Amino acid sequence: MRFEPESLHGANAGLQVARGIMEGIKQEFPWISYGDLWTLGGVCAIQEMGGPKIPWRPGRIDGFASQATPDGRLPDGAQGAQHLRNIFYRMGFSDQEIVALSGAHALGRCHRDRSGFDGPWTFSPVTVSNEYFRLLLEEKWVWRKWDGPKQLQDKTTKTLMMLPSDYSLVEDKNFKKYVQVYAKDQDKWFEDFSKAISTLFELGVPRTQFVASEPWVMGGEE
Ligand code: HEM
Repeated sequence: MRFEPESLHGANAGLQVARGIMEGIKQEFPWISYGDLWTLGGVCAIQEMGGPKIPWRPGRIDGFASQATPDGRLPDGAQGAQHLRNIFYRMGFSDQEIVALSGAHALGRCHRDRSGFDGPWTFSPVTVSNEYFRLLLEEKWVWRKWDGPKQLQDKTTKTLMMLPSDYSLVEDKNFKKYVQVYAKDQDKWFEDFSKAISTLFELGVPRTQFVASEPWVMGGEE
């Protein structure tokens, strides 16, 4: 993502904002790789916003433009369950992990000038919680009538949104099973999310040359 064309892939739209913020830290600590800095930033952000501790270890080596992945390997919010499976199964994730990872949409929002979609998923977009799952199940979601891409809005306040890909988690029977578990049990979601995102952050990190010590946790043991 440091280079074109990967930085320009549609699914990365808007991430230049985050990369710009991280650049200041990279200048201050130039010895850390971009890959490690960005994942460590993610781990810290999740913790700071009240989420679970995520085991993290360094080792991601920065690549070059010539090693960019082809476009189309990242999920597309306009699509549904089959597409999510195509994208995430290739990386070795299960249905349960797809649902657990999607819960990150408790945070933040969609931007018209980035993805084209618009609005937040929850009422508390800077707090990590299982609200995304609860709202998916308990709200009535209707198609928003507007001139933008197809997305859903909550019938009650019309201020929240779901992408077609988010909504597929309650349309698909097997995905829905996990949405129901996580909507009821935030601790269970924290535990599963922590494991799945740790796996995601380590994909492609070379681990055969050396054996790192036990994964460590920011701030140490509780
Ligand atoms: C399941 C497939 C996924 C799809 C289709 C998807 C799609 C999207 C889209 C379209 C946006 C809006 C971007 C914008 O307009 O600014 C977004 C934002 C976001 N996504 Fe995802 N995403 C997926 C998975 C994930 C995962 C696995 C995570 C993290 C574990 C994640 C974390 C976020 C966050 C935190 C935002 C908000 C960014 C902001 O507030 O600027 N998403 N996602």
